[in-house]
Amino acid sequence: MSTAISPTAYNYKVVRQFAIMTVVWGILGMGLGVFIASQLVWPELNFGLPWTTFGRLRPLHTNLVIFAFGGCALFATSYYVVQRTCQTRLISDSLAAFTFWGWQAVILGAIVTLPLGYTTTKEYAELEWPIAILLAIVWVTYAVVFFGTIVKRKTKHIYVGNWFYGAFILVTAMLHIVNHASLPVSLFKSYSAYSGATDAMIQWWYGHNAVGFFLTTGFLGMMYYFVPKQAERPIYSYRLSIVHFWALITLYIWAGPHHLHYTALPDWAQSLGMAMSIILLAPSWGGMINGMMTLSGAWHKLRTDPILRFLVVSLAFYGMSTFEGPMMAIKTVNSLSHYTDWTIGHVHAGALGWVAMISIGALYHMIPKLFGRAQMHSVALINTHFWLATIGTVLYIASMWVNGITQGLMWRAINDDGTLTYSFVEALQASHPGFIVRALGGAFFATGMLFMAYNVWRTVRASDPAQAEAAAKIAVVGAH
Ligand code: HEM
Ligand code: HEM
Repeated sequence: MSTAISPTAYNYKVVRQFAIMTVVWGILGMGLGVFIASQLVWPELNFGLPWTTFGRLRPLHTNLVIFAFGGCALFATSYYVVQRTCQTRLISDSLAAFTFWGWQAVILGAIVTLPLGYTTTKEYAELEWPIAILLAIVWVTYAVVFFGTIVKRKTKHIYVGNWFYGAFILVTAMLHIVNHASLPVSLFKSYSAYSGATDAMIQWWYGHNAVGFFLTTGFLGMMYYFVPKQAERPIYSYRLSIVHFWALITLYIWAGPHHLHYTALPDWAQSLGMAMSIILLAPSWGGMINGMMTLSGAWHKLRTDPILRFLVVSLAFYGMSTFEGPMMAIKTVNSLSHYTDWTIGHVHAGALGWVAMISIGALYHMIPKLFGRAQMHSVALINTHFWLATIGTVLYIASMWVNGITQGLMWRAINDDGTLTYSFVEALQASHPGFIVRALGGAFFATGMLFMAYNVWRTVRASDPAQAEAAAKIAVVGAH
C-alpha cells in the first residue's frame, strides 16, 4: 500500500480553535462548579448580591460545562474525525468559522444573561429566545458542514463514529427547536408554547435526550475514533457498533418520563419511561464493552500511556452511570433518590467520569497532531492530571451517594404518630460533611484542568507554523 501526500489539506484551524476553547471553558465551567459547591458549604459566598447567588450561577455552571466545554469538545473532535475518516477537507471554511464564532457568541450570551436573571426556567434550555435563535442557526450550519463533508467524502464507507456524531447533531437540532417553541413578550422574556403536564413532558423529552444525544451519543462518536486510535487496535466488533448505534438511538428517545415519576404525567407514560430506561442498559453496556474490548492485546499499554487510561476509565464510568441510571429510573428507587444528592452524584459520574474524561483523553491525543508535534509537552503532567481527575470524580460521586441516601431516608422517616422524624434542616446538617468532600473532589478535578492548560500551552508554543501546516496535509493511503 503506498502513501502519497495529497496537495490538499484538512481544515485544522477550526479544530484547533475549538480544541483550545474546550480547555478554556473547561477551566471556567469547572471552576464555577467548585465555587457553587463551596457556596453550599459556606453560604456567605453568595455575597448577598442577586447575580452571585447559587440560583443564578448554577445554570451558568451547567451551560458552561455542557454547551461550552462539552460543546467545543464535540465540535473540535467531530470536525477532526469527519475530515480524517472521509479523507477530505470540510465542505466550507467560512461556514465552519461561522460555527466557531457563533458558538462562542452563544456562550458569551449565557455568561451575560444568566447571572442577570434572564431565564426561560427550563433546565438546560434556560437561554432566552434571541440567544436560542442564534444557537439554532449555528446548529443548522454545523449540520450543513458536517453532512456536507460526509457527502463529499473520498472514502466509500462512512465510519461508525460519524454515525454517532450525525445522530447527535440531528437530534439536538430537533430537541432544541421543539422545546424552545415559545412566545416572546419582550427582548428577554418569552413564554413556552406548551403548558402544564405537556410542557413538563416536552421539557424532559428534551432534557433526557440532551443527556442521551448531547452528553452520550456525541461522545460515543468520540469513543469510536479515539479509543482504537490511541490503543492502535481496530474496534473490537464493527458489527456490535452498528447494533449499538441503532439500539441506542431507538431506545433513548422514550426514556424522558423517568424524570417525572409521581407527577401529574399519566401513569402509563411514567411506566413506559421506566421500562425503556431499563432496556437502555443493554445497548449502553454493549457500547462500553465494545470500547473496552478494543484493548484486547493492548492492555499492557495502560501501564505507560496515561491518555489511554483517560479513555478507558471514562468507559468504566460510562458503564457505571448507565447501570445506575436504569436503577434510578425504577419508580420505587426513584422515590428515594429523586430530589436528593444521589441524582447530583449520578450526573457527575456521567459528566466528570465519562464526558470530561473522554474529552480530555481525545484532546491529549489530538492536540500534538493538530500542531505538528510528536506528543504533548509532558507525559508526566498528563499522568498527574489523570490521577487528579480520577480521585476528584470518586470523591465527588461517593460523597453524593452518602448524602443522597442519607437525605432520602431522613426525609421519609416517620414516627409512630405519623409526624416526620427529622426536619429539613436536620437533613441539611447531615449533608454538610458530604458537601465539603464534594467541593474538595471538584477542586481536584479543576486543578487537573489547570495542569492540562499549561501542558497544552507548552505544546502549542513549541510548534511552528510550518510544522502545523505540514500536519494538516491529507495523507492518502492506498487507492483512496
Ligand atoms: C470541577 C468539577 C465540577 C464541580 C465541582 C461541579 C459542581 C456542581 C454543583 C455544586 C452543582 C449543583 C448541585 C446541586 O444543585 O445540589 C452541579 C450541577 C450540575 N453539574 Fe456540575 N460540577 C463540575 C463539573 C461538571 C461537568 C464537567 C459537567 C458536565 C459535563 C457538569 C454538569 C452538571 C449538571 C448537568 C448539573 C445539574 C444537575 C441536576 O440538575 O441534577 N458538572 N455541579
Ligand atoms: C442508561 C442510561 C441512563 C439512564 C437510564 C439514566 C437515568 C436517569 C434517572 C432515572 C435520573 C433521575 C431523574 C430524577 O429523579 O429526576 C437521571 C438524572 C440525570 N442523568 Fe441519567 N441516566 C443514564 C445515563 C446518564 C449519563 C451517561 C449521563 C451523563 C453523561 C446522565 C446525566 C443525567 C443528568 C444530567 C441528570 C439530571 C437531570 C436533572 O434532573 O436535571 N445520565 N438519569
